[in-house]
Amino acid sequence: MAEQGPLLALRGVAKAFGGVNAVQDITFDVQAGESVGLVGPNGAGKTTLFNCVCGQLKNDRGSIEFEGRSLRGLPTYKRARMGIGRTYQRAEVFADMTVRDHLMVAERARSRAGRLWKDLCNMSRPTDEECEKVEGTMALVGLTELADTPVSALGLGNCRLVELARALAGEPRLLLADEPSSGLDEHETADLAAVLRIIQRDRGTAVLLVEHDLGIVAEVVDRAVVMDLGSKIAEGSFEEVMEDPVVRHAYLGQSV
Ligand SMILES: Nc1ncnc2c1ncn2[C@@H]1O[C@H](COP(=O)(O)OP(=O)(O)OP(=O)(O)O)[C@@H](O)[C@H]1O
Ligand SMILES: [Mg+2]
Repeated sequence: MAEQGPLLALRGVAKAFGGVNAVQDITFDVQAGESVGLVGPNGAGKTTLFNCVCGQLKNDRGSIEFEGRSLRGLPTYKRARMGIGRTYQRAEVFADMTVRDHLMVAERARSRAGRLWKDLCNMSRPTDEECEKVEGTMALVGLTELADTPVSALGLGNCRLVELARALAGEPRLLLADEPSSGLDEHETADLAAVLRIIQRDRGTAVLLVEHDLGIVAEVVDRAVVMDLGSKIAEGSFEEVMEDPVVRHAYLGQSV
């Protein structure tokens, strides 16, 4: 049997903004079901690389493949259909909707692509299958008790969980999250880390996690890739990379 290739393969990926080489020659893989942390000091190029993977930016050089297929030229929504889900930093939610209704919209957007607006206008009854999926996703991220609460009444931590649940409605094979813990307190961050682990364990979803908070990275990832000034400077287990003198030097002056 042929050996299965990586889920996500980056080869020599580069992106510049004018004279700034935001991302330079980045090569690494994410295997199916694996959780990889992308870390590094401010301005390292993490978000730029993240946006190249989800399709919000076009890389200037190099290749990005998902399940062996090149992503070149594909818009974000096509990448999402292929199985690349992402969260947004700001909870972009319809605030007056309950958590359940909000996730139902996401589920319908996925399962009835193209018929969404008609559905929204008619507010036709969801199918049993749609209801089951939404209840399942809420249970997975721990939002069941808040199902009937309007999203506007939620704190930031729970809004982030709604965002995660919404990304999961598309049943991604790879979940991309950029700074999901920003603005959360210690307790909320711990909850989020637990949910990310559950997603990986129960759904087998691979996770590429961009994070400043090294505590959450240590909790969640199988492996870490460290960037500094656009380049990859280390890759390995979280403990390994954090002991690497090059990484320690890059973080000098920052709280590690
Ligand atoms: N749209 C843009 N136009 C011009 N320069 C940009 C743009 N986006 C990012 N940059 C520059 O590219 C470099 C990498 O930025 P990026 O936001 O990818 O870093 P980051 O690792 O995500 O940082 P942070 O940890 O602060 O989120 C920085 O020098 C930044 O100023
Ligand atoms: Mg960033």
